[in-house]
Amino acid sequence: MPNITINNQKINYNEKGRGLPLVLIHGFPLDNRIWDSQLAALSDKYRVIAPDLPGFGQSQPPPKSPFTLESLADTLHAFLTQVKATPCILAGLSMGGYMSFAYERKFPTTLKALILVDTKAEADTPEGKAGRNKMIETARTGGSKPIAATMLPKMITSDSQQNRPQLVQQVNAIMEACPPQTIEYALAAMRDRSDYRDCLPSIAVPTLIIVGDNDPITPPAVAESMHKAIPHSKLNIIKGAAHLSTMEQPEQVNQAMRQFLSSMIK
Ligand code: MLT
Repeated sequence: MPNITINNQKINYNEKGRGLPLVLIHGFPLDNRIWDSQLAALSDKYRVIAPDLPGFGQSQPPPKSPFTLESLADTLHAFLTQVKATPCILAGLSMGGYMSFAYERKFPTTLKALILVDTKAEADTPEGKAGRNKMIETARTGGSKPIAATMLPKMITSDSQQNRPQLVQQVNAIMEACPPQTIEYALAAMRDRSDYRDCLPSIAVPTLIIVGDNDPITPPAVAESMHKAIPHSKLNIIKGAAHLSTMEQPEQVNQAMRQFLSSMIK
């Protein structure tokens, strides 16, 4: 996989295909491998680019300083400028979606469309923030394994947990590889993120919202309310998926993205 240096940090990314750039941003505590199926399927028509955010996957961590969703959006913009990938279609899963809202506020003219996957616009509740602090303690004392163990039942349905051992192994391997320091920074960034609900009505680009019908972190009702608030939006509910729909039901996600892209992007 290629990499480039942004602000003295190595940013790793996967890239395939030619055409309009389709940029795929992973969630927490994940990396760009969650988009492997989308990269393979959609690169027949698009230039698909899936970076590892700073500190995740094979990208270097931010030098001794925590990040925010806004600073991640700045890094992404510098990255996309360097690889000449604007304007682009930006897709973000969960934390990647939180970052996409920050990106849309800062760099709206560099976007052709948005794809919001298993994500939400609201900030953490006080209980949610307390939960983040507990998880930060867990990561400090126990590393990434207990974090992965807590997240797995939210990422994929109980049916897949029982019947798809290879998927379980792949998702666990990605989460357990996430460095504890990155986990800590990402939890703090998500805990302190802004509420983007007021910004939804002014999103001017075509937007596709995708959500797993069993997503416990960002449930379909939350996706419905984003759909109502974003003017040019479509909603696609993925059957048989929890939070990590791109890996659990890749064909349905690919089809939803392909249909949206061909109908909205001229
Ligand atoms: C993610 O998938 O990025 C996170 O689970 C989102 C969150 O914890 O809010």
